[in-house]
Amino acid sequence: MNRSPPTGPRRILGVGIATLDIINEVATYPAEDDEVRALGQRRCRGGNATNTLVVLSQLGHACALAGTLADDVQSGEILRDLKAHGVDIEPCVRHAGSHTPTSYVTLSRASGSRTIVHHRDLPELRAAELAAVDLAGYDWVHFEGRNPGETAAMIRDCVARRPDLEISVEVEKPRPGIERLLQGPQVLLFSRAYARSCGYEDPEPFLADQWPWTGAQLLVLPWGEDGAFAQVRDGPVCFAPPYAPSRVTDTLGAGDVFNAAVIDGLLAGLDLARVLGRANRLAGVKCGLSGLKGLVMRARKAGLL
Ligand code: FRU
Repeated sequence: MNRSPPTGPRRILGVGIATLDIINEVATYPAEDDEVRALGQRRCRGGNATNTLVVLSQLGHACALAGTLADDVQSGEILRDLKAHGVDIEPCVRHAGSHTPTSYVTLSRASGSRTIVHHRDLPELRAAELAAVDLAGYDWVHFEGRNPGETAAMIRDCVARRPDLEISVEVEKPRPGIERLLQGPQVLLFSRAYARSCGYEDPEPFLADQWPWTGAQLLVLPWGEDGAFAQVRDGPVCFAPPYAPSRVTDTLGAGDVFNAAVIDGLLAGLDLARVLGRANRLAGVKCGLSGLKGLVMRARKAGLL
């Protein structure tokens, strides 16, 4: 990838959803039909692309969200959090009389794992709505890999309007038609869950088998507590070791944090090994922290960025 040297903060547009996360912390994950008491509960704004933007904003970039928002009381919590993080919601579409998508999260203190039950009836952003967003001045557009038909049309639209724009897509979940998102972006950010759902237990064969289906220049594959892998087209596979916090407390959104750090590192023109190493460290710090508040500051203080 041929990128110019860093010139300070960049403008990044994220396309995806914003959710309300209701997080119940439990000692250990309950069995089906159990009744357990939560040790703690918190509510916060979530959503993959939105989490990624919040972290990019903490890293100093000027971020905007393109997505749909409800107009119920809960949407106020989302708006307040995005405002506090300086994320511009001007490109968003509001739906009158609708409900905020909600994720009910069970967070196990024993393992740090997060189990998510997500409910939504809010319409997804349509390609025609993104077509109305002025792309001038953006350096990067990051898409959440959802709603593949519309998202594929959005990617084509971005490429047609701004062929110079860097585009990344997060391919996290196996959704029907998700392969349509492999054409157009320069960077594909996969998840271990996605690779496993395709039948792969090892990162390298998964990466090798993606190249025939994509025009991307870079494939990235975080592998949880076993580190992260990435490969530039026609290049060797690059590996970076994991970074583990002293105690894993909250893994919710760790993948979104990893993606933010990758985008930040690529925008800064760092080499691939450094990009991956920083991303592992920031995601690791996140796993030892409840929520995203103060994440980048904590990582900087510890000399990890
Ligand atoms: C974490 C997350 C949560 C959200 C859920 C949506 O990655 O973005 O904040 O509720 O995933 O799938």
